[in-house]
Amino acid sequence: MIKNNENLLSLYVHWPYCESKCPYCDFNSHVNETIEIKKWIKSYKNQMTSMKNELVKRNISFKNLNTIFFGGGTPSLMPVEIVESIITLSDHIFGFCNDIEISLEANPSSYDSKRFKNFNRAGVNRLSIGVQSLNNKYLEFLGRLHKIEDIEISLKDASNTYENISVDFMYAFHGQNLNDWSNELKSFLNANNLQHLSLYQLTIEEGTKFFKDHKNGLINIIDNDTAAEFYKISNELLNDYSFYNYEVSNYAKSGFKCRHNLNYWNSENWIGIGPGAYGRLWTSDLYKNRIEYQNYKNPKTWLSKNLYQTEFEKITSLNNYVSDTDTLSMGLRLYDGINISKLSNKSIINSNSLKVLQDKNIVSFKNDILKVNKKHMLKLNSILNYLINS
Ligand SMILES: C[S@@+](CC[C@H](N)C(=O)[O-])C[C@H]1O[C@@H](n2cnc3c(N)ncnc32)[C@H](O)[C@@H]1O
Ligand code: SF4
Repeated sequence: MIKNNENLLSLYVHWPYCESKCPYCDFNSHVNETIEIKKWIKSYKNQMTSMKNELVKRNISFKNLNTIFFGGGTPSLMPVEIVESIITLSDHIFGFCNDIEISLEANPSSYDSKRFKNFNRAGVNRLSIGVQSLNNKYLEFLGRLHKIEDIEISLKDASNTYENISVDFMYAFHGQNLNDWSNELKSFLNANNLQHLSLYQLTIEEGTKFFKDHKNGLINIIDNDTAAEFYKISNELLNDYSFYNYEVSNYAKSGFKCRHNLNYWNSENWIGIGPGAYGRLWTSDLYKNRIEYQNYKNPKTWLSKNLYQTEFEKITSLNNYVSDTDTLSMGLRLYDGINISKLSNKSIINSNSLKVLQDKNIVSFKNDILKVNKKHMLKLNSILNYLINS
């Protein structure tokens, strides 16, 4: 049976608003509109209270909150009062671990020194800044509202307040030069003292402007070999600066892995509040299984459904196959791999396929730990398709 080994509990808070919509983005993000602060606080509070009741009712054992993540959208646009209230209320409702990690996603275009100090005073101790590119030409291509100068100012200022800063990049897109990227990254790392980096290769998501542009032949996708070359060079460079890959797209200095995301990748328990957020909990009844709580995506609908009581759009009991597939695909993203004793049914793994992948040195499997070998990480999706019995 699957176990939530350490009874870890995380809280994800979704803020759905942005200054503008980026052409590649398929996250639940909407252009900012007037909001009523009190109503939002009340709805977030209702959701936390009912999730606490759910934990008690289902007899799910958990420690105090281990992490909180304000994601979006652009949470750096959140009124400080809302962030502050969520942190205070969540402490009151669930309790905090002593060393709780509280992250907030921020955009350089909405950077404001005073607000960021206030977020920190409210309890936020980790910033994740969406730098995306170090080249004004590509920032424009990506539809970003900031320029290199804004990145420099926000990072310099934020590092006076925050000791744990992560930066997001997008790279490996059509037209980007590998040497330029490597030089830009190098000078950026020389100039800034960061603790964590996320490097995402650009994906073209259905429903985005880039998807239409791609269909109309305006944007191309780079080939797999070039993508692999970008990945290899970036990994080598980051290792030289003491950032180590611990997940396909994530790199940390020692002691600075993102504990919130590790809870997802390790299939622990988390609660998701806010429009479109989802949470997953392992139940503690006789037949252990996993329940998913899905929130209404549209911000206005979400608000109206949660202002006086809590209503999820969907609550699903995941069957073992779905749950095991998810546990495996999340766990294999980690460079340390996954202990397959976490699966309810190990026979989801096709033993012939496993043997072939081991013989080809694509995966390793020892003492129940299954790992994808480093240089094959970018092929994770095809490896999973081949490995999992359908
Ligand atoms: C929730 S999103 C955005 C957070 C924040 N609003 C921002 O834009 O910086 C988190 C990250 O996902 C990455 N991302 C979003 N869409 C992507 C795409 N289509 N391909 C690759 N990375 C993407 C970006 O690096 C982004 O910072
Ligand atoms: S700012 Fe971030 S969340 Fe908002 S549209 Fe752009 S990428 Fe998406």
